[in-house]
Amino acid sequence: MSNPLNIAIAGLGTVGVGTVQVLQKHAREIAVRCGREINITAVSSRDKSKDRGVDLSGFAWFDDPVEMAKTAKADVVVELIGGSTGVALDVTMASIAAGRHVVTANKALVAEAGENIARAAEDAGVTLAYEAAVAGGIPIIKAIREGLAGNRVSRVIGILNGTCNYILSTMEETGRDFDSVLKDAQDLGFAEADPSFDIDGVDAAHKLAILASLAFGTRLGFKQVHIEGLRDITALDFVYAKELGYRIKLLGLAGQTDAGVYQRVYPCLIDQEGPLAAVDGSFNAVIAEGDFVGRSVYEGRGAGAGPTASAVVADLIDIAAGRLSLAFGVPAARLADLKAIPIKDRAGPFYIRLTVIDQPGVFADISSAFGHANISMESILQRDHDEAGNAHIVIVTHSITEGALRLALKGLEDHTAVVEAPHVIRIEDVWGE
Ligand code: HSE
Repeated sequence: MSNPLNIAIAGLGTVGVGTVQVLQKHAREIAVRCGREINITAVSSRDKSKDRGVDLSGFAWFDDPVEMAKTAKADVVVELIGGSTGVALDVTMASIAAGRHVVTANKALVAEAGENIARAAEDAGVTLAYEAAVAGGIPIIKAIREGLAGNRVSRVIGILNGTCNYILSTMEETGRDFDSVLKDAQDLGFAEADPSFDIDGVDAAHKLAILASLAFGTRLGFKQVHIEGLRDITALDFVYAKELGYRIKLLGLAGQTDAGVYQRVYPCLIDQEGPLAAVDGSFNAVIAEGDFVGRSVYEGRGAGAGPTASAVVADLIDIAAGRLSLAFGVPAARLADLKAIPIKDRAGPFYIRLTVIDQPGVFADISSAFGHANISMESILQRDHDEAGNAHIVIVTHSITEGALRLALKGLEDHTAVVEAPHVIRIEDVWGE
């Protein structure tokens, strides 16, 4: 066997400890698969005295991960600290400058600084590997970058955030509202104490920007992702969505058309019989469409120690076996400019829920506002009064532009019978165009 691959791990949270466990438990099989052993030589974390349930005594300990990146006896540094700037970026750049490969699970870092890191890595003759950064245990980076490399990929759609998927599935199942389900998710450890990155869609947008760059060969465009989170979804919307044959999911959608690339993250209604509808709880799933392969679907656990460590170790095995990939499938300098298609150019159906005072003429006024905006409605529900004595009118439109929708809603803005801001959710056909 060749010399072992020496690695240093920066960050010993759930994923760091999971990585140590996978490498220890499967040391023999991994050595056979790579033709060499993978040895942990050094680790770094904040608190040396903390009991993490794994034996770290054989590894050099560094309080300073940047110092470790510069000086440890390591061919690879595994960055599991998190954040797009600060220590995570410093560790990454110091590792590359010292001629070490970098493996990371850090989607914020890759989405926001990935191009610069990839260029530095190429110049230094090392690799940046980040399978764990998107959709946890699903090998989606490899699937798109290598498995679909013979295709022109036109669309990537995913359930990319397990926290949001868990919250939405639980709201639907229990009929409870967003705040109470979020609180439970935090108590159970499924959501962070500060959940904003997840529930406001930022985490999913980081992952989507990475997938879009890989899929379309374009520069990373995290700042161009249109992002809407979950906070406005109510328990009632699940009731009406179900009645209309839909489920509500937070999706990341990216597509390449003649006009450019769109990247969108928002909660939307999807057909309850469709391929992503059955993906529940903390699971992730991705659909990628290529011109020769057609549609391909990938599903699995998107977070947690085991799935994420599984992806980290897969990257380490590739490096140990000499399978070094360009981070984005092409040299960073050859990524095409990204012409972003703005959200105002989206056309598609909408779900609109209006809360109105139940009185004669209101229905006619709503129809007139929609007619004036040239919106054709596919279906309309009117349901019983709520506790305050109001009626709910739920409209599903045919495909319309965002502009037409805004015009119709503006026409109802000052209507005295419309007592709440309309609840608007886009409807997406994940199997269609
Ligand atoms: N916070 C992410 C999620 C997992 O809830 O899916 C790590 O990317």
